Amino acid sequence: MSSAVITGIGELTTNDPGLGRLRDAALVVEDGVVAWVGAARGAPEADERVDVGGRAALPGWVDSHTHLVFAGDRTAEFEARVSGEPYAAGGIAVTVGATRAASDEELAANLRRHVAEARAQGTTTIETKTGYGLTVADEVRSARLAAGVVDEVTFLGAHLVPPGADAAGYADLVAGEMLDAVAPHVRWADVFCEVGAFDEAGSRQVLAAAAARGLGLRVHGNQLGEGPGVRLAVELGAASVDHCTHLTGADVDALAGSPTVATLLPACDLSTRQPLAPARRLLDAGATVALASNCNPGSSYTTSMAFCVATAVLQMGMTVAEAVEAATLGGARALRRTDVGHLGVGARADVHVLDAPSATHLAYRPGVPLTWAVWRAGARVR
Ligand code: NIG
Repeated sequence: MSSAVITGIGELTTNDPGLGRLRDAALVVEDGVVAWVGAARGAPEADERVDVGGRAALPGWVDSHTHLVFAGDRTAEFEARVSGEPYAAGGIAVTVGATRAASDEELAANLRRHVAEARAQGTTTIETKTGYGLTVADEVRSARLAAGVVDEVTFLGAHLVPPGADAAGYADLVAGEMLDAVAPHVRWADVFCEVGAFDEAGSRQVLAAAAARGLGLRVHGNQLGEGPGVRLAVELGAASVDHCTHLTGADVDALAGSPTVATLLPACDLSTRQPLAPARRLLDAGATVALASNCNPGSSYTTSMAFCVATAVLQMGMTVAEAVEAATLGGARALRRTDVGHLGVGARADVHVLDAPSATHLAYRPGVPLTWAVWRAGARVR
């Protein structure tokens, strides 16, 4: 058994209800897990000692929504958008073409590059989705490649009806043969429930089929307008409904009265020139909120959770404490994980040290790369 004490922590955000936020703290890691947390002066001896010199530490980011199995680039689409073109889900088809044409090696290298980029910025848990294959073979390939690299994999065969396909026939394929082939590689299934993608009936069909095969459910909902996504996610007991940009009062009430997490994607809202999701309304109503990057080449090409936190604080009315919690513990809840997103005893030792005295600097110094050190499961990854 190997142990290490990380000490000299000026401010430690634990997200543990009994511990809260500690000053002059230390934590002991044994075999990749937090074994002790408390005041630095009372810290037990360990095999290794790292003094972080009064810097702030927090749990590693839990990025519960990304689309990292892709090839190609959509700079031209982005340029058109910032010149006034609306975001349309149809751009997904461009990435589908590039992804199908890429080799396994190219896809794996691109995936690993983005995961490494995220880790270097403090992200220690990453969910990613299929959804740029949209054939049985390409969806299985995406899931298989992701399963070897990220923490959580989601099947998103219901991302777009492929150009030329019939919507009902494609939903039957996704809910049948495709789901059977992909299910062994994934924990979750998701649908893009939106005008231009899957309607309520098709979304329900796919989600019900996934639940019947034991997969957990997630929904892309209410991204480009009000719609049935949130209601469906809550009704079917989805772990999370993601985007939540356009919500009715009934949607907010439904989320507040359910365990379904509202995962907000501020970088996507900005990149697609949508309004920012109503974080304050959700929090005030009592909903559980997560923040995630939604890194993908179309609507949100960033791995920066710090950018999402800064945006949530500066433009969405969240406090720093709420935003940091949403990007760590909120993400863990959206993935129904109890081992990450906090630094209580027994948690996976995912520790993110900032080159700053307080987590407040994430919003106070927006855009400044503050990550100083990162441990994942007790191993230093930066
Ligand atoms: O979460 N909304 C659907 N899926 C992605 C966008 C993917 C794309 O444009 O390539 C999203 O924003």
